[in-house]
Amino acid sequence: MQMNRKIRNLALIGFMGVGKSTVGRIVAERLGFGYMDTDELIEARCGKTIPCIFAEDGEERFRELEYEITLELETVSDTVISTGGGLVVNPENMESLKKHALVVCLWASPRTICKRVGKKNTRPLLDEAEPINKVKSLLEARKPHYKKADVLLNVDRRSLSRVSQVVIQNFKMVADNHERGDS
Ligand code: S3P
Repeated sequence: MQMNRKIRNLALIGFMGVGKSTVGRIVAERLGFGYMDTDELIEARCGKTIPCIFAEDGEERFRELEYEITLELETVSDTVISTGGGLVVNPENMESLKKHALVVCLWASPRTICKRVGKKNTRPLLDEAEPINKVKSLLEARKPHYKKADVLLNVDRRSLSRVSQVVIQNFKMVADNHERGDS
């Protein structure tokens, strides 16, 4: 792990439905950190939901907003940041997160993902009757980006509570072994 960085936050990346928000909230509470979610920040800024942004402004506009928000997050401290599933497809976003955060990727199989996302149509990219093929192809395309995380954690056979524990262990190891950034 390249550690000539000042790690003062923890960023969770990974595909839709892997449990980033649930794990993020648990980890933030246990570390006594703040919690931020890039999708929530975008919705608050636009005053509309993600499906509305996709429908009215398009995916390209959504990706611009993700980029803006990611750069703004470079100033936060002691925060767990949960990111939208496609955020790190832009290498500049990954680079930005790595300036200040330990980047942990939660990884799951297409089957687990489909079970978890269920029938909720809050995710425009999976808004189809049988999303399994879309999940498989998107996951494959995004794999090289997810693999650039500092820590890659398979969540298929772990409860989200156990996943949270492992994330905390990884974060504490880094925080203990490397000077935490005060700036
Ligand atoms: C997206 C994932 C979603 C949200 C948007 C696009 C993606 O976030 O950002 O619907 O491209 O994978 P979650 O991963 O929190 O569902």
